[in-house]
Amino acid sequence: MVTVEEIRKAQRARGTATVLAIGTATPSNCVYQADFPDFYFRITNSEHLVDLKRKFKRMCENSMIKKRYMHIDEKILKENPNMCEYMAPSLDVRQDMVVVEIPRLGKESATKAIKEWGQPKSKITHLIFCTTSGIDMPGADYQLTKLLGLQPSVKQLMMYQQGCFAGGTVLRLAKDLAENNTGARVLVVCSEMTAINFRGPSEAHSDSMVGQVLFGDGASAVIVGADPDILVERPLFEIVSAGQTIVPNSEGAIEGHLREVGLTFHLLKDVPSLVSDNIEKCLMEAFAPIGIKDWNSLFWIAHPGGRAILDQVEAKLGLNEEKLRASRHVLSEYGNMSSACVLFILDEMRKKSLEEGKNTTGEGLDWGMLFGFGPGFTVETVVLHSIATYRARK
Ligand SMILES: CC(C)(COP(=O)(O)OP(=O)(O)OC[C@H]1O[C@@H](n2cnc3c(N)ncnc32)[C@H](O)[C@@H]1OP(=O)(O)O)[C@@H](O)C(=O)NCCC(=O)NCCS
Repeated sequence: MVTVEEIRKAQRARGTATVLAIGTATPSNCVYQADFPDFYFRITNSEHLVDLKRKFKRMCENSMIKKRYMHIDEKILKENPNMCEYMAPSLDVRQDMVVVEIPRLGKESATKAIKEWGQPKSKITHLIFCTTSGIDMPGADYQLTKLLGLQPSVKQLMMYQQGCFAGGTVLRLAKDLAENNTGARVLVVCSEMTAINFRGPSEAHSDSMVGQVLFGDGASAVIVGADPDILVERPLFEIVSAGQTIVPNSEGAIEGHLREVGLTFHLLKDVPSLVSDNIEKCLMEAFAPIGIKDWNSLFWIAHPGGRAILDQVEAKLGLNEEKLRASRHVLSEYGNMSSACVLFILDEMRKKSLEEGKNTTGEGLDWGMLFGFGPGFTVETVVLHSIATYRARK
């Protein structure tokens, strides 16, 4: 007779969870940061706030963002003037947009990931869908299952309202699912849109304006599985360990509230120093078991919450200039896409590593740090191991 222990053993995968494919997508409407202050103050009827516009322009110039993508455009905003006020009832129109567009954009990124993976979508056993842009029942996970034509038996997990740290959370959960279920192939999708939080400026609330300077739309997808079939699957990164921590004495540092007026965004000025003051402790905990203390020996995937955050992390840890290249590149090309950002950076890193003839998917290095941070103040850390590029190349 078979024992419970034997059943348990058979249920588990043998190896470490790996990222097997990555896909990304954005809406087609591209917004150049240099043009944004004029557009933003015009569309929100705020041209008379001359000093505020000057400040906003300076923040845009200092953001190191070149462009962002947004579903909302001039036509949509003109049709929905309440979205352009600082605080006007507008949740219904925002919800009508994101409930449709979030799964649709997610589908675009997932389709690319599935194509790269090269396997039939019927082999996807689990779906994790993550968004901070709207909320619905059944959720965006259900809509995506339908849109992609996944098996009705796919095991869904919907994560709403997690905020920017969730790009790390999804990998942590995908690792647990992949390693604890033999043959699991987990499709992970993060999809975010500014339609939920776009609003006019307010002289009294600079933190809300910071959000208008930074946020962009984007979706990213990965497929995660353990024990890859190397005849048909190409691992890109191994997910070695993952942790989450709430930073002490950080209450209220980043908050969002879903209200009649859409999603409001609240940010304290000391967020960049909160990140940089706490990152080393997280690194030491994550890398002590591996015996790594030289942070320049790692490849880096850092959530680009804003330029000030990347600058302060770099300075505090004494990172060489090129360490945050991929993170800065994604910030510059797309803005802060909340949970979707770190998977865009993972994609950029493996592509550039191949392009530049590096030995591994992690810029030629073996070990890497992926970190996300967001509401609370909460930090996610994921230790990655790269793959030799000759194995990752199709
Ligand atoms: C937004 C940003 C790119 C602007 O760059 P900058 O112009 O060099 O930044 P500064 O620190 O000089 O701030 C510009 C203005 O915005 C204000 N400001 C910046 N952060 C603010 C905050 N969180 N709340 C309120 N005001 C803020 C500053 O007080 C300053 O106003 P002032 O000109 O009236 O003094 C930069 O501040 C940044 O990256 N911030 C971090 C954003 C962040 O925490 N993101 C996390 C989201 S997950």
